[in-house]
Amino acid sequence: MQTIHDPAQLRALLAPWRSAGRRIALVPTMGNLHDGHLKLVRRARALADRVVASVFVNPLQFAPGEDYERYPRTLEVDALKLAEEQTDLLFAPAPEQVYPRPPQLTTRVSVPGLEDILCGASRPGHFGGVATVVTILFHMVEPQVAVFGEKDYQQLLLICRLAADLHLPIDIVGVPTVREPDGLALSSRNAYLSDSQRRVAPRLYAALKQVRERVLAGAGPVEAAAAGARELDAAGFDCDYFTVRRAADLEAPGPADRDLVVLAAARLGSARLIDNLRFSRPIGVDAEAQE
Ligand code: PAF
Repeated sequence: MQTIHDPAQLRALLAPWRSAGRRIALVPTMGNLHDGHLKLVRRARALADRVVASVFVNPLQFAPGEDYERYPRTLEVDALKLAEEQTDLLFAPAPEQVYPRPPQLTTRVSVPGLEDILCGASRPGHFGGVATVVTILFHMVEPQVAVFGEKDYQQLLLICRLAADLHLPIDIVGVPTVREPDGLALSSRNAYLSDSQRRVAPRLYAALKQVRERVLAGAGPVEAAAAGARELDAAGFDCDYFTVRRAADLEAPGPADRDLVVLAAARLGSARLIDNLRFSRPIGVDAEAQE
């Protein structure tokens, strides 16, 4: 596996693959790779002839005061892990190679309707930064398929919409969340948890499951989610949002909507954890109190 920093060199390496008709998969990451990321690489391997992974901590998706500076950067270890997964190429550009002009002055991509809600409401500008860097990476690599984790469910939907709206000929594939045995979703930000916070952290997934059960038993999504938020706050989290939405577009569900997702974001100490659980409400289970 080669590690490339320069976008021009990347293009030169990709050109012969493309002209030989090789199907190229891209796995965009911010590095500090864990088993969740490696599962994305394995899925990419199964879907394409060549796998390109990118490691780039994108300054544009961090608001001032967020963890851009302290975000863990572990490129050498990441490269070893990717090589073990038979990744063909690691693209790890420097910020000035992605944003030749100051990032704040870079042309932006926005995804109205999806970028300002939920995590976008708590992290203004975040999804604009994600949409912009993902579009840039798509243009640099020109993959036929790109693989993202379902843990960042709102991000995944936003990228699907971006690809559809911009007519990008790229299949966007989501991969189920990888969890610790106690249910905590793998995330680079779990490293910010103290030992005692780490013991509490699985309550987030437990609360999502409980809300799912309540909705399946006929509770209204809003009241079920509010109970989930109260439980998290009582466990020591500072709940940012806890909500049940339509899985297709994150709109509030109506009584006839079956394909739902319960999503939550909550701070635990200095870590902001997010998680979600998608589920189907079988016909016959109607929420009495629809919002
Ligand atoms: O999910 C991430 O790691 C990032 O948001 C992404 C998609 C690599 C864009 O920087």
